[in-house]
Amino acid sequence: MGVTPLIALPIEQLRRRSSTKWRSYADDVLPLFVAESDFPLAPAITRVLAEAVALGDTGYTPPRHAYQETFAAFCERRFGWQVDPAQVRTTGDVVMGLVEILRGVIAPGDGVVITPPVYPPFYDTVTEAGGIVRSVPLQVTNVGWSLDLDGIELAFQQGAKAMLLCNPHNPTGTVHSRESLTALASLAAQYGAWIVSDEIHAPLVRPSIDFTPFLTASDEAAARGFTVTSASKAYNLAGLKTASMVTASREPARILASLPMEVEWRTGLFGVLAGIAAYAEESDAWLDSLLVTLEQNRQIVADGVAALPGAEHRVPDAGYLAWINMQRSTIEGDPSKYLLHHAKVALNSGPTFGPEGERHVRMNFATSPEILHEAFARIAAAL
Ligand SMILES: Cc1ncc(COP(=O)(O)O)c(C=O)c1O
Repeated sequence: MGVTPLIALPIEQLRRRSSTKWRSYADDVLPLFVAESDFPLAPAITRVLAEAVALGDTGYTPPRHAYQETFAAFCERRFGWQVDPAQVRTTGDVVMGLVEILRGVIAPGDGVVITPPVYPPFYDTVTEAGGIVRSVPLQVTNVGWSLDLDGIELAFQQGAKAMLLCNPHNPTGTVHSRESLTALASLAAQYGAWIVSDEIHAPLVRPSIDFTPFLTASDEAAARGFTVTSASKAYNLAGLKTASMVTASREPARILASLPMEVEWRTGLFGVLAGIAAYAEESDAWLDSLLVTLEQNRQIVADGVAALPGAEHRVPDAGYLAWINMQRSTIEGDPSKYLLHHAKVALNSGPTFGPEGERHVRMNFATSPEILHEAFARIAAAL
């Protein structure tokens, strides 16, 4: 039996939401920017949150709960990744986890590699942790993007002590190959560097693509790596504030355990309750429906971009973000500004992802086909 797609909420309901996506622009703008999605919650999440509200279950998050075991079971089912629940700790969100782990592995002033174009907060994450950003841009190949392993090796040789890996990568949607992750782990082992892997988009990898959780790439990856992830992207739970920090060997686990107690106390109770419901087997059918919908939306985006003069993009391997290159369009300057003004479509501005993002925009396609068609019609008219 085929999987039924998930239907996004109608725009009148979406406009009643109070989150950033729906409250940043006037009602004549279609918001396709920040990575929130427009679908109804998975039923198990709605149920558990409604019960918690009815009970007034709004206190502090206890240190141990079913979250770790449920998360580990999800990783095994979805990625064949065996996670030890005892090596999972929680915090408020993925970015907090990245900052605190970096603080645990670098000294002030150490270099930290990032690979732009990349999720803009990575820049501040490094500086907040006391590090210095060491940019090693992704390499553009004829089949997409890949890690510049020579550039990363040079950065490690020159003293960088850690790297923030984004796998799957935001904004390009690249799922890094097992070979490149294994090679990265070898470099980390050789130079004594740490890899902190942000895998928040992993549940949204296309069914046809093989995803390698970094910690499974090799023994060296397990020895030199940390993974930070959350149910917040796939299940739209960003406001509930829970993320997982995962290790797979003794030294990284010791480092996680030595972080200040406050790091775990920042975990949101609603995020834990919703996370348990999201990772439960009961919600797999909802996630499969979402993946079918995103597959359909990727096609709408591919057709829409192909019809725009001077715009190009590669279908992402994962996630619901499209990275659109507008270098050959006639728009001068930042296309997101032009399109907000002339098409009333809000997209992310490419240069915020690093200089490599000049004249690019990022489009969030986790919405209805109607909104996507309307957005492309407005953009085409504006061009
Ligand atoms: C790669 C990546 N990391 C982290 C985040 C934010 O996660 P959180 O809200 O849990 O900090 C996002 C949000 O889009 C993201 O794309």
